[in-house]
Amino acid sequence: MLRRLHPDQPESFAFTPENQAWAEAQITKYPAGRQASAVIPLLWRAQEQEGWLTRPAIETVGDMLDMPFMRVLEVASFYFMFQMQPVGSVAHIQICGTTSCMICGAEDLIAVCREKIADKPHVVSADGKFSWEEVECLGACTNAPMAQIGKDYYEDLTEEKLAALIDALGKGEVPQVGPQNGRFAAEPLGGATSLTEFVNASIKLNASAQLADDIGDTVKRIDGKEVPLRAPWSDMSAGGAAGITLPGPAPRPKPAHAAKSGS
Ligand code: FES
Repeated sequence: MLRRLHPDQPESFAFTPENQAWAEAQITKYPAGRQASAVIPLLWRAQEQEGWLTRPAIETVGDMLDMPFMRVLEVASFYFMFQMQPVGSVAHIQICGTTSCMICGAEDLIAVCREKIADKPHVVSADGKFSWEEVECLGACTNAPMAQIGKDYYEDLTEEKLAALIDALGKGEVPQVGPQNGRFAAEPLGGATSLTEFVNASIKLNASAQLADDIGDTVKRIDGKEVPLRAPWSDMSAGGAAGITLPGPAPRPKPAHAAKSGS
């Protein structure tokens, strides 16, 4: 698949005030002259805000980091996590198609996406709400087949369950994240055999699913108001990172022949 700027681009891009403050704080993490190191976090926040990376967003990030636009585009087009084309206004659904998920039914899930969203990946559905793509292993193989929707994982899926998820999201609901077959996490289907004290009636969700539920940002476009701005490295009162003199490069070991000759 060619990864290049989409032909249809918006006129402009601007971070929301909260995202702008977040982005400026990220830039202060890096030593003077190394601000370009913030390119991935800034591109990611731009994508979290807009859903995909537009040309104006790439140029805005280039301006903020004093980078040639081409260098920013190179980063954006290299990493597949960056969407170079418009995505659904509600959700972009990423179906894992790697071995475990494929064996457990990923192709059936892709068929659901083809039927309910669009025949081809990276095409926005007729109602504008959804898009989909197949991705490589997302690291939840024990709960295969699975999909990432927004920030969260939906695991132990079936065709019916994925179709119901898409319908629910389309109505504005945010379905329960995590395993969809009653599992707590990745324990055996017959129930946990160890650490059973963590899987009892009082704990309904595992920690990551609970956090997703609490923050409620699963498919939401991120405007920066979700969590307070935290930039502890900029706190100078305790000799924060900005006040530390960075050590120079570590001395290179002497080559063996130089050590033998004592030179
Ligand atoms: S193979 Fe699908 S999550 Fe690993």
